[in-house]
Amino acid sequence: MTAVEERKVETATRSMRAYTEELAGIQESVRVGPGDQATRQQHARGKMTVRERLGLLLDDGSFTEVEGLRRHRASGFGMEARRPYGDGVVTGWGTIEGRTVFVYAHDFRIFGGSLGEAHAQKIHKIMDMAYAAGAPLIGLNDGAGARIQEGVTGLAGYGGIFQRSVRASGVIPQISVIMGPCAGGAAYSPALTDFVFMVRDTAQMFVTGPDVVEAVTGEKVSHDELGGAGVHGTMTGVATFVSDDEITCLEEVRHLVSLLPASNQEFPPEAPADDPEDRLCEALLDIVPADPNRPYDMRDVVAEVVDHGDLVEFHEGWAANIVCGLGRIAGHVVGVVANQPMSFAGVLDISASEKAARFVQFCDAFNIPLVTFVDVPGFLPGTGQEHGGVIRHGAKLLYAYCAATVPRIQVIVRKAYGGAYIVMDSRSIGADLSFAWPSNEIAVMGADGAANVIFRKEIAAAPDPEARRAERIAEYREELMHPYYAVERGLVDDVIDPRETRVTLARSLAMLRTKSAVLPQRKHGNPPM
Ligand code: HXC
Repeated sequence: MTAVEERKVETATRSMRAYTEELAGIQESVRVGPGDQATRQQHARGKMTVRERLGLLLDDGSFTEVEGLRRHRASGFGMEARRPYGDGVVTGWGTIEGRTVFVYAHDFRIFGGSLGEAHAQKIHKIMDMAYAAGAPLIGLNDGAGARIQEGVTGLAGYGGIFQRSVRASGVIPQISVIMGPCAGGAAYSPALTDFVFMVRDTAQMFVTGPDVVEAVTGEKVSHDELGGAGVHGTMTGVATFVSDDEITCLEEVRHLVSLLPASNQEFPPEAPADDPEDRLCEALLDIVPADPNRPYDMRDVVAEVVDHGDLVEFHEGWAANIVCGLGRIAGHVVGVVANQPMSFAGVLDISASEKAARFVQFCDAFNIPLVTFVDVPGFLPGTGQEHGGVIRHGAKLLYAYCAATVPRIQVIVRKAYGGAYIVMDSRSIGADLSFAWPSNEIAVMGADGAANVIFRKEIAAAPDPEARRAERIAEYREELMHPYYAVERGLVDDVIDPRETRVTLARSLAMLRTKSAVLPQRKHGNPPM
């Protein structure tokens, strides 16, 4: 006889102590879940159980569960005989470094973590609670998508998640952690959130799994080849972060949360300003070569400028020609966007534009000032890019910057050519301040290209074309390829000693902290998404 059946029989005669003992028994079965065999299988797949994960994600003892006793009421396909407490998802709230977060976590041991009606309603409730409280929502995803036995109710359950996720977008941070094979809706719902973490080897995301792929297309593909962390961390850009194991992944989620405001009504938490704001960045003189064609690692520049060299980089393995990440300057969180000369000379292309656009949009929604380090030769030319829609995708980054009302500062590190210079948060598209280093080349294009276009006929007609070409290139460089042309015209606010980049940024950000913006009345803009 189950504890619940027993209660029906003895209700009239039992003491309060007996009731509480019965409750303790039920609570224990909720906590233990589907049993040792299922747990062993979960561990054998290289994955932790749902409560082990929550224990690592949240501050010790801070988790309060909601609807642990919820069960499905589905019938058919043997469902009546299998009604586990919790219905395959654990929901509730807890704290990370003392700040409240809401969580839902699939239990793969129960129906493969698939989502039926009760399971969906539990997630809906916790999403509504997070939205009302103005606190981050974290989903630990390890589930097979819509529960096949519950027919269309599972699909509708996902509809409710999608709708809530979009309502909460830009209001509370939403973080998805992928910790198992996530199919169908379990892959789509994370795609709507702000961040997707994936665990290498054990996590996959796909709309349809390998069995369906083979049945429909005949193609044989493994879970990992189809949608593993390698695929989504480097090819598709779906995964913002890839971690080697679950423990590291959950630590990284905690660290990210420590940099985010609880909602769009707050600023990110401040840290002690224990790295002096007036620290001179001597190393910058050696990191960046004056020769515009020599590569260097832009991450070294950023590390020199931000507090303690710490930058949480987004999409590290995807679109490496642009670096996006969160760091601090004088204890305040900033969003850093930077061209990366080490990868494709730092050009802007389709993927880089998409990556940075989404990052800029996130920072703007959550009151995170933007610092943009520019060293860009232009947009990547070629049919691949043009036919792939670089106009449309590049416009996403342009739109995101133009629309952003958070403090925005541009630092031109070396070269800034053409449209890419304008897109990389130039003064003309609304940056609050723009600073140039004295070695800058700010121009429509490089001197060689420029001379070849405007003096082509003259060079061809000259008695010594190569000598005339060199003369004209030198002349163009002298006249236009320096920061003073731009600063004289107010397009750049000042030319600074590179060593003073950090102190200049810290003081400018402090001044801009009270910046406010008046937005036009409209329902919303129409970005080229
Ligand atoms: C109910 C499911 C299930 C599902 C798996 N299970 N998928 N139960 N509904 N959708 C159960 C299995 O029967 C098994 O139960 C347990 O979960 C583990 O499944 P395995 O296949 O043994 O695990 P694994 O080999 O790791 O493969 C995991 C998987 C695969 C890749 C997720 O199970 C799979 O492809 N499932 C189907 C995925 C899918 O097509 N989902 C519907 C998506 S439609 P027992 O009891 O034997 O342990 C959708 C649309 C949403 O979500 C709307 C989007 C717009």
